Amino acid sequence: MATRNSSSSTAGRGRSSPKNEIIEMLKADHKKVKKAFKDFEKLDPQEDPEACQSLVEQTLAEIEVHAQLEEQIFYPAAREAIKEEELIDEAEVEHMTAKVLIEQLKGMSAEDEKFAATFKVLGEYIDHHVKEEENEMFKQMTRTGVDWDSVLIQMQEQRMALLEEKGLPPEGEAEEAGEAATSGSRSAASTARGMSRGAGEARPQASSRSRKSGSEKE
Ligand SMILES: [Fe+2]
Ligand SMILES: [Fe+2]
Repeated sequence: MATRNSSSSTAGRGRSSPKNEIIEMLKADHKKVKKAFKDFEKLDPQEDPEACQSLVEQTLAEIEVHAQLEEQIFYPAAREAIKEEELIDEAEVEHMTAKVLIEQLKGMSAEDEKFAATFKVLGEYIDHHVKEEENEMFKQMTRTGVDWDSVLIQMQEQRMALLEEKGLPPEGEAEEAGEAATSGSRSAASTARGMSRGAGEARPQASSRSRKSGSEKE
């Protein structure tokens, strides 16, 4: 298990390298969100609109935290490190498109006719996006000489801040970063039910920060 609640970059070293911690953290998020979309399929918006609503709200908040972490820290690091900058461009465009659906969902209630369909399409979209990240971007990224220690610290700090901003519990991510990669992680639906989220609002930060370096660092 990773020690992501530590602010020390060396704390996790004995067990997991900063590089692995970062990739595991991102993959654990992917896995958790994927499970939430599956959980949603088992719910009936007509019969249990509240459970649907809270599951969706929590999932959207988690997606936003993840997306912002990538946009603010991971993607800029990847842009400087990997050869195929188009991968980052595509990923950022995909984030922007996903945000359109997220904003639509925020304006809907579970009783809404298109609520389930919109959430489902978001899930399919994210599924595609995640495959590209894991199979292409992350793989290329792990072969570079990124300053993983620095990226990890930034991601940990920013994650804590974003979770707080969204009213999400900080402990969830700490345990999952180390374990969700191998275990199923708990039910997002059950977590969502007890959730009373503050009005975490989206702040689309689809970066147009393009730092074209032209050459990759090794
Ligand atoms: Fe992403
Ligand atoms: Fe991701």
